[in-house]
Amino acid sequence: MTVREMQDIILKLKKETNTAILAHSYQAREIVEIADFTGDSYKLSVDATKTDADNIIFCGVHFMAETAKMLSPGKRVFLANKNAGCPMAEQMDRDMIAQIKASEPDRTVVAYINTTASLKTVCDVCVTSSSALKIVKALDSDKILFIPDCNLGGWVKKQLPEKDIKLLQGGCPTHAAVTVNDVKKAKAEHPDALFLVHPECVPAVTELADYVGSTSGIMDFAKKSDAREFIIGTETSISEHLQYDCPDKKFYPLTKDLVCRNMKLTTLPDVLATLKGMDNGEASEIIMDEELIASARKCIDEMIRLGG
Ligand code: 13P
Ligand code: SF4
Repeated sequence: MTVREMQDIILKLKKETNTAILAHSYQAREIVEIADFTGDSYKLSVDATKTDADNIIFCGVHFMAETAKMLSPGKRVFLANKNAGCPMAEQMDRDMIAQIKASEPDRTVVAYINTTASLKTVCDVCVTSSSALKIVKALDSDKILFIPDCNLGGWVKKQLPEKDIKLLQGGCPTHAAVTVNDVKKAKAEHPDALFLVHPECVPAVTELADYVGSTSGIMDFAKKSDAREFIIGTETSISEHLQYDCPDKKFYPLTKDLVCRNMKLTTLPDVLATLKGMDNGEASEIIMDEELIASARKCIDEMIRLGG
C-alpha cells in the first residue's frame, strides 16, 4: 500500500467514526497531512477543547494526550503509539514538589505542560514554551518555582528579573544535548542564515540565537521574516515542514541529531491501527479517573485563562 492509499483510508475511517486527529508539529509530514489540528503544545491544548468529534487520536507524546483527555473528559482520547512518552514529563517527583510547596507556601508552582497529570495536581499553573513568559509575567505572585525544565525556566527568569524564580535541575534530553560547537559549525556552513532556537536548549546556545521561541513561534518567525535562510534549533521535522510551506526559503536543521525519538515513534500504520482498534479494545485509550482529572485540570484551565 502506498502512503497516499493509507492516508485515504485514514481520512475515510476518521470521517465515519467522527474522530479528530491532533498532531504535534514534531510529527512526520505524512501524519501532519492527515491531521485536523496541528501545532505546538499550547495550540493543541486549546484545539482539543474546540472539536465536537466523539474521539480524539493524539499523534504526539503521552502527556499531550493526557491533557486532551482532561480538557475533553467526555470524549474517548487515544494515543496513536502507546510507547511515545516524554522523558522530561517523568523527571520530577510529586511528593518532592508537594514538600517544597508546603515549606514555601507563598511560592507559586509553575509547571511546564510536559509533566504527568499526577504532578500537575500539586502545581498552580501550567505553561507551554509559547505561553511561559506571558503567563509568569501575568501572575500576581513574584515568588515562583518553575518545573521541570531549568532551561525554559532560566530563559523566562532572564527576561523577568523582577521575579524571584526558583529552578530545579530538569529538562529535555534532546534539546539540552545541543552544544555551542553545533551552533558554530552550522553558522560557519550557512553564514547568511538566521539562527532560530527553542528555549529548551541551554543558555549558552540560546544566547547565540537571532530568535528564541516555541515550535510555532519559530515557524511564524521564519514565515514572516524577509530573510531567505534559517538554521532551525529544534526537532528536525520543523525544518522539513517549513521547507514544504516556504519553498523559496532555505531551512537547515541545526544538527541531524536533534531528533525526538519518542515523537518519531508514531507512524501512519499506528494511526490506521488506532482507528480500527477503537471499538475492540486494541487501541491505546487514555483512561483517567474523575478525581485525578478534576485535580490536575485546574492548572491547565489557569494556563488557558492567563494565556488566551
Ligand atoms: P512546544 O511547546 O514548542 O510545542 O514544545 C513541546 C515540546 O515537547 C518541545 O520539546
Ligand atoms: Fe519531550 Fe524533548 Fe521530545 Fe519534547 S523534544 S517531547 S520535551 S523529549
